[in-house]
Amino acid sequence: KKVVLAYSGGLDTSVIVRWLQDEYNAEVVTFTADLGQGEEVEPARAKAEALGVKEIYIEDLREEFVRDFVFPMFRANTIYEGEYLLGTSIARPLIAKRLIEIANETGADAISHGATGKGNDQVRFELGAYALKPGVHVIAPWREWDLTSRETLMKYCEDHNIPVDFSSSKKKSPYSMDANLLHISYEGDILEDPWQEAEEDMWRWSVSPEQAPDEPTYLELTYEKGDIVAINGEKMSPATVLEYLNKVGGENGIGRLDIVENRFVGMKSRGCYETPGGTIMLRAHRAIESITLDREAAHLKDELMPRYAKVIYNGFWWSEERKMLQKMIDESQQVVNGDVRLKLYKGNVVVVGRRSEDSLFDENIATFEDDAGSYDQKDAAGFIKLNALRMRIAAGKGRNLLDD
Ligand code: ARG
Ligand code: SIN
Repeated sequence: KKVVLAYSGGLDTSVIVRWLQDEYNAEVVTFTADLGQGEEVEPARAKAEALGVKEIYIEDLREEFVRDFVFPMFRANTIYEGEYLLGTSIARPLIAKRLIEIANETGADAISHGATGKGNDQVRFELGAYALKPGVHVIAPWREWDLTSRETLMKYCEDHNIPVDFSSSKKKSPYSMDANLLHISYEGDILEDPWQEAEEDMWRWSVSPEQAPDEPTYLELTYEKGDIVAINGEKMSPATVLEYLNKVGGENGIGRLDIVENRFVGMKSRGCYETPGGTIMLRAHRAIESITLDREAAHLKDELMPRYAKVIYNGFWWSEERKMLQKMIDESQQVVNGDVRLKLYKGNVVVVGRRSEDSLFDENIATFEDDAGSYDQKDAAGFIKLNALRMRIAAGKGRNLLDD
């Protein structure tokens, strides 16, 4: 048996390597990706080698992640349950895809991951894997073993000669965390009480709005087909854009979120998130769309957005419905070109200007000053009367909406 494992190099997934070798007599192939989590991925190589792994994949996927997953999602102004910017959800389909591609390259028939049996991540990894390789064997150790605490995991390391020293690794955060270029998330520990406020020192990417500078930061974002291609006039790659916005956003106290969300498996879960760049991108994208998109095109996108968000949250990126929705969203973005000017100030993203060659905003029509252009105020009387027709008929038949 040959298994490709999504390997972080941390304690949990190192135990999984040895456990797969022992319990399944498996040859383990490790896959470690740099998605912008802000930790070196290269140390995973020596750790995997020490565990006897022969095929070790370590990849920088930051540009692919932002270009092919984050940016397409932001074209739809996507948020789950009105709040969550899907930072973890959107990274999983890329990891699933690479797991399967590596399985095909190395002749492996199975994949494995370190997600628990209670969360969304297991669903996302596995739905992706099955969609891309229908006969794949999935091994989810957390659903099988009884190593449920850090202590039992450390004991397993001792008993099974796992040669990696995790005791010396810097103070472990009490939270279950996940980070990539789009966000960092915190769950568990004191957050499991939804009434308990998160401690200030939990947050790693942003200052609190109280600590943010007293001077605002101005930014100019340039859009082409719904994606940011330049900041303050300087061309930037997708990953560089997000890195830059995370930095200035974090410095200005932008993008903290504390929510209770509904997991696909049915439970409610409390999570804290920092998404500085994403918070800026969402606001700015709506601003450029506000002048470039036709009203009904914009409203149709808005109606479908919660559905698209749920598709991604629940792990159905590699599905027919996501592909269909994406085609429609991408089609709408042909005209989403131009610039947005923003002011970042103490946790706020304020839009202060927008302009576009593709703008539908017509000053001659919108002006209150004078009746130039193709708008005749007299037309409005008939427009309103016909819209009132069915209500006038009902009222004429004696229906009285004042009574209930
Ligand atoms: N609740 C969020 C989501 O489902 C974040 C999950 C974080 N995952 C993790 N392995 N810590 O997208
Ligand atoms: C996990 O259970 O592995 C993390 C939380 C989640 O997937 O929702």
